[in-house]
Amino acid sequence: MRKLVNRIVCGDCIEVLGKVREPFAELIFADPPFNIGYKYDKYQDKVKRKNYIAWTKDWMGACKKVLKPEGSFYIAIGDDYAANVKVIADELGLVMRNWIIWHYTFGQQMKNKFARSHTHIFYFVNDGKKFTFNDRAVRVPSDRQLTYNDSRAKAEGKMPDDVWNGDPRVCGTFKERTGWHPCQMPESLLKRIIAASSNAGDCVLDPFSGSGTTAAAAVQLGRDYVGIEVSEKYVENAEKRLAELKGQRDSNGDLSAAETSEFKRLLSDIKMPAKEIAGNEKLLALFTNQFSVRMNNQKRYKLKEMATALKDFGC
Ligand SMILES: C[S@@+](CC[C@H](N)C(=O)[O-])C[C@H]1O[C@@H](n2cnc3c(N)ncnc32)[C@H](O)[C@@H]1O
Repeated sequence: MRKLVNRIVCGDCIEVLGKVREPFAELIFADPPFNIGYKYDKYQDKVKRKNYIAWTKDWMGACKKVLKPEGSFYIAIGDDYAANVKVIADELGLVMRNWIIWHYTFGQQMKNKFARSHTHIFYFVNDGKKFTFNDRAVRVPSDRQLTYNDSRAKAEGKMPDDVWNGDPRVCGTFKERTGWHPCQMPESLLKRIIAASSNAGDCVLDPFSGSGTTAAAAVQLGRDYVGIEVSEKYVENAEKRLAELKGQRDSNGDLSAAETSEFKRLLSDIKMPAKEIAGNEKLLALFTNQFSVRMNNQKRYKLKEMATALKDFGC
């Protein structure tokens, strides 16, 4: 098992996981092919419905066996098989905590029906009573705080909704786009999941690693990872992506690398230009407060310090 950690392994996830004896993953994120005819390097993404459902049972079962007793299991899936995934999860004894809808911008345009612009993300746990969920790491300022100046607003912000807006599909022109994988997930989405459902040093497994997004997000948040992918080409490219990432010393001004990573994640969750926040006293105070909450109030951050960091990011 040890030899899989912090690697993208080339192989079939059912076979690779079948050889593992002990549960090792605190968190699993799976984004399988959706059986809608995408063009992958090695995988044929259009098989008979009954074969796809049987295969889904197999890989979900293989994942469940390596999930730790207090672990969490997220699955991204399209409309056609979402109901099947839920039924299989019930059969495996997984407990559903959220059925998240990821609503993305840049949906696929179609002539004869509404544009497809969402993906289902199931959030399951092994044990409905014992699991990791770091609410402070994902809270955002509430509308009561941002818009209504409502005294009932909670100082620590609110939990994000279970409909996730604003993480766009990673399109061709995006800086984040690797260019060699047909359906790369945004890092911002993976970071929210990893921050909420794992702790530093935990192991995050992605059985369908693709471009290596889950591993990239895990590295930036100080988690271990295991990626599995059938295409050698994708494995090679994902390893390059990770090597580049590990080579970067990403810190900003007086903020440490960990603070910088959290700072960027909050900025992306709040979805307001850094310039607007830095130039508005109330927004700056809310941002600073939320940042302190996310950093577990380990330190008192000064408004001036946050304004400078915001300027470096976007002004
Ligand atoms: C939807 S993509 C994952 C994209 C990934 N979330 C990302 O952000 O890049 C699914 C990936 O699963 C791979 N795959 C298909 N069958 C597999 C299997 N049995 N074991 C491992 N990988 C597989 C495909 O080659 C493809 O890269």
